[in-house]
Amino acid sequence: MGKSTDFNRTLVTAALPYANGPVHIGHLAGCYLPSDIYVRYLRSTGSDVKFVCGSDEHGVPITIKAKNEGVTPQEVVDKYHELMRDTFKEFGISFDIYSRTSSELHHKTAAEFFKKLYDKGSFEEQITEQYFDESANQFLADRYIVGTCPKCRNENAYGDQCESCGISLNPTDLINPKSKLSGQPPVLRKTKNWFLPLDKLQPDIQTYINKHSDWKTNVFGQCKSWLESGDGLQPRAMTRDLNWGVKVPLKDAEGKVLYVWFDAPIGYISATKELLPNDWEKYWKQKDSRLIHFIGKDNIVFHCIIFPAMLMQHGEFILPDNVPANEFLNLEHDKLSTSRNWAVWLHEYLNDFKDKQDVLRYVLCANAPESRDNDFTWKDFQARNNSELLAIFGNFVNRTLVLTHKFFDGKVPEVSEYTKEDLSTLEEISKFPEKISHSLEEFRFREALAELMNLARLGNKYLADNEPWKLIKTNEIRVKAIINISLQITTNLAILCEPFLPFTSVRIFSFLKIQPLNWMHAKRTDNLTSGHTIGKEELLFEPIEDEAILFQTEKLAATKKTNVSINKSLMIQKPETSFDDFGKMDIRVATILEAEKVPKTDKLLKLKIDTGIDVRTIVSGIATWYKSEEIIGRKIVMLANLAPRKIKGIESQGMILMAENPDGELSFVSPEKMSALNGAIVK
Ligand code: MF3
Ligand code: ZN
Repeated sequence: MGKSTDFNRTLVTAALPYANGPVHIGHLAGCYLPSDIYVRYLRSTGSDVKFVCGSDEHGVPITIKAKNEGVTPQEVVDKYHELMRDTFKEFGISFDIYSRTSSELHHKTAAEFFKKLYDKGSFEEQITEQYFDESANQFLADRYIVGTCPKCRNENAYGDQCESCGISLNPTDLINPKSKLSGQPPVLRKTKNWFLPLDKLQPDIQTYINKHSDWKTNVFGQCKSWLESGDGLQPRAMTRDLNWGVKVPLKDAEGKVLYVWFDAPIGYISATKELLPNDWEKYWKQKDSRLIHFIGKDNIVFHCIIFPAMLMQHGEFILPDNVPANEFLNLEHDKLSTSRNWAVWLHEYLNDFKDKQDVLRYVLCANAPESRDNDFTWKDFQARNNSELLAIFGNFVNRTLVLTHKFFDGKVPEVSEYTKEDLSTLEEISKFPEKISHSLEEFRFREALAELMNLARLGNKYLADNEPWKLIKTNEIRVKAIINISLQITTNLAILCEPFLPFTSVRIFSFLKIQPLNWMHAKRTDNLTSGHTIGKEELLFEPIEDEAILFQTEKLAATKKTNVSINKSLMIQKPETSFDDFGKMDIRVATILEAEKVPKTDKLLKLKIDTGIDVRTIVSGIATWYKSEEIIGRKIVMLANLAPRKIKGIESQGMILMAENPDGELSFVSPEKMSALNGAIVK
């Protein structure tokens, strides 16, 4: 496994998110949080590192969003670019630059890159039949088209990729293709495009991938399976018949733009150029530089195969040294989805949990979908805050600072003598930076965070074993050593938590009244000089109460309900009926006189009904929704002349009319005025 120290500088990229919606926890957990932790760690060790990102502002997701909202694509990206940039900043994602692919510099950089490959003869010019939507008068690239994945049979695969199995596709690979614009099957039309012959490049790509068996298993495994399965890699069009994107820099290419997955990764290069106009090439072209792409698993093929192939063809660039991709995060056991609003939006989170960025960072890292999909639940969020961050980390720091004030007026006490236990504790403390580094170097962020918590646990155990609050009456000298050591642990926690919990780190340093220290200092146990006066402490973390969690889970329940209705409300209207047919039904107002549960059933109630002309029995499947005692005396509407039927041995003489929600919930249809008499006809 390559290590950061094997190189002289590192360029870290985080996938450029599509600027078509706000940022949610899945984005954060998948790539922005791990990359930020990694970069903060490298900075703290004094490495030369740059961290670049920006908005991906081209591609079909943007144009579809614009169409749906009746605005221009530029308006969409302007809005979301800003929102995303601000959200990342608020959560402490410390990009050196957050750029965007609609910038002039990017258009120029991407067009030049394409031109260079074109001039070298890297592309195959091909006239092929592509899908076209006649009613929308448009070619259907990428996400404009959906159909069944030929590999895994997912019915909602896109024209460029199946998100279920991750395979990259061409639109013509889809079974039963349909236009996203009209819902209709498309027609084929001839058009010219430029293809990257990945089939011919496969041997080089294979050599490259094989050199990287040190990559995370989920990443390496996926690459191997694409390379080895079926016919191997296929030529892939790098241009599209669309009008939103980077114009193809050729004469005979009117109305064509670069494929979004061609231009977007070049966005990493443009962003570096924008950040370091005179120095960017060092990071991209020198062999002693290291390139690392943090991404989500749906981006693996583009970063491990297509982008490296482009870079190889170009010839001047280094290749990605590692591509630590995460799997997906689910929310309460269900796939995150922007369109179904099934997400925790970061800007909403901050409204509900003010100043608690680090809590979310903690939970998302502790639970990161590192090697398989994982679940975010509000209950787990609460538990991790209350019984880990607060009870272990916050509690230790708080006790230490409180005791320093109580016993020594806030002055760091001097140690005159260490016991054997003290020395072994100090020895153990000094090992933590190494342990955490080791996990971080291997992109095992959960493990690294668990080690950090172990340092806080060690602190708690040290205090509990030594009981300075008891000793103070008899052995002040001893208490001085205990508090001094606890303060050194606190300082080291402040250093080592910085990549994970940057806001908390700043706060601890400010309580301690010292300047932030870097990673090297955490190997030491004498960062605080005796006699130094620390500041007043505040609580690092607050308990998260049940109400706050209930509020969130209810919000999600409401979303789920809305989604069910939206789904089912697509049910089409029944075929036309005639007035005569309607008139054949005897629908009338009636009153429920008696109600009782039908024995040995869950759903059935046996009702006695006053219909205005008689009193009869009706069996009705409403027991899930109404209790017998609460409906007696209620006016309802019924179908009186329905042919009688036997239900559980009881003859039911009619039917109560109910309104049924998409989720099956039933509600009586009742006359609005109590003056509506039993027997009144509904028409
Ligand atoms: N916009 C893509 C997505 O959200 C990621 C692009 S990454 C880059 O899935 F390499 F193209 F920049
Ligand atoms: Zn598939």
